[in-house]
Amino acid sequence: MIRLMQKADLSAVSQIENLVQTHPWTLKQFEESINSYQSTVIEQQGEVVGFCILQPVLDEANLLLMAIHPQQQGKGLGYQLLDQSMALLKNNPLQIFLEVRESNLSAIALYEKSGFHQIDMRRNYYPKADGGKEHAIIMVKSCSDDFSQLFKS
Ligand SMILES: CC(C)(COP(=O)(O)OP(=O)(O)OC[C@H]1O[C@@H](n2cnc3c(N)ncnc32)[C@H](O)[C@@H]1OP(=O)(O)O)[C@@H](O)C(=O)NCCC(=O)NCCS
Repeated sequence: MIRLMQKADLSAVSQIENLVQTHPWTLKQFEESINSYQSTVIEQQGEVVGFCILQPVLDEANLLLMAIHPQQQGKGLGYQLLDQSMALLKNNPLQIFLEVRESNLSAIALYEKSGFHQIDMRRNYYPKADGGKEHAIIMVKSCSDDFSQLFKS
């Protein structure tokens, strides 16, 4: 089940983030994201196993962050979560943007499967655990040709 994030989900969300990111968002950032962005979670047997944070901006949106619990990855949950979270956006964006670490091949593959393609690269954008820097791949998905948009209220 995919639904909007609530305060009661914050500790589970933050735990997942801490398991998957070298530079995790803080609990406070997740708390603020409930009101500031469209934040969703995916549940399996009543447990939160992933989250997705989308920022609607005028007629566009940015995918800020998403993750699936390491033990639940590779089962199609990330794809489902992203797909349904994008469909929930109330501003019917024409385009959705994201930035992803160049080394994050599983995320890039998920995004390509979800209709994103690379448009740019930011050199030495992300800090790495070893103190170095890593390029960011900038991707966009064009939603104007998305058939489902026609049926949105
Ligand atoms: C990226 C992430 C969200 C994917 O979630 P997931 O539930 O494992 O992904 P899915 O099982 O839905 O896979 C969807 C597609 O993504 C790609 N993919 C997922 N895991 C992959 C892997 N390990 N290697 C290659 N491709 C992969 C595939 O294209 C897959 O489609 P397919 O199964 O038809 O081949 C998850 O790996 C994760 O949480 N990673 C850590 C956090 C992160 O990097 N977040 C994104 C940047 S903020």
